[in-house]
Amino acid sequence: MMNEKIRLTKEKEMLLMTLYGRAQESRKQEPIIKDHDAEDIIEKIDYDFSKLTIYRGDTVTIAIRAKYLDQWTKEFLSDHPKATVIHLACGLDSRINRVQVSDTVAWYDIDYPEVIELRRQFYEERSHYHMIGSSVVDPEWLSQIPTENPVLIIAEGLTMYLHKQEVYDLFQRLSDRFSTGQVAFDALNPFATRWAKFRKMTRTTGATFHWALKKPEIIEEWVPRFHLMKQLNLFEAPEIRQLPQDAQQVFLLFQKVPWLKKMTRLFLYRFE
Ligand SMILES: C[S@@+](CC[C@H](N)C(=O)[O-])C[C@H]1O[C@@H](n2cnc3c(N)ncnc32)[C@H](O)[C@@H]1O
Repeated sequence: MMNEKIRLTKEKEMLLMTLYGRAQESRKQEPIIKDHDAEDIIEKIDYDFSKLTIYRGDTVTIAIRAKYLDQWTKEFLSDHPKATVIHLACGLDSRINRVQVSDTVAWYDIDYPEVIELRRQFYEERSHYHMIGSSVVDPEWLSQIPTENPVLIIAEGLTMYLHKQEVYDLFQRLSDRFSTGQVAFDALNPFATRWAKFRKMTRTTGATFHWALKKPEIIEEWVPRFHLMKQLNLFEAPEIRQLPQDAQQVFLLFQKVPWLKKMTRLFLYRFE
């Protein structure tokens, strides 16, 4: 597909923001993450990225989030070479290529049907790689996923678009279907969800943020089988220290205020 007009709206259009963020970071001299597919794809689509007003800080946090989720994925697959990966709300993300999975891993990328239709222009299904066009809140897609191997479920940039009950039901369904595995996702805190309403990117796309996570223990109360393994405040990641001095300033300021530093966090839970 060469320079075809993109017609996504709301939360679907937001995948262009994260794609662009990774591409921008990837082009730097010493990037936090290398994402050749993102660099390539943004050249092939016709979309005015400037209308999203993506700040340098956004690019950094998008890259840090992707880097740690890639790392956690590699760690899981190194411990479980025969495994299933469910990548919810994949958008046009290239994690399947960045982590270089072997054929003993069955990988499922899931997003809305319109998104998967677009995704198929850039990625091809292979024997161990599948794409499913469905809302993640529709319980039906889960029946397509095999249950015999340990499972890693990744949800990057998804939970804020769901309502509380939808997140709760999704986690319950995952826990009911799989006997052992891990769940990795990012979540905003209540302040970040409110603040997002004033960002140009949400006003331009019409995307609405709903769910926020106050503290990670809430998930353990919802699903007693889930146990928190790791968490990371993106604004406190070690990568922030490697940024040029002027780029660090806003992060250093945020680090001083608890509800600012916890605006966007990554979580990893295990269950068995
Ligand atoms: C900010 S983008 C993130 C995309 C990708 N994870 C990335 O990091 O580039 C949000 C994604 O969530 C997807 N999404 C939001 N709600 C969804 C739902 N109910 N079912 C499936 N996908 C959903 C959107 O279509 C979009 O691809």
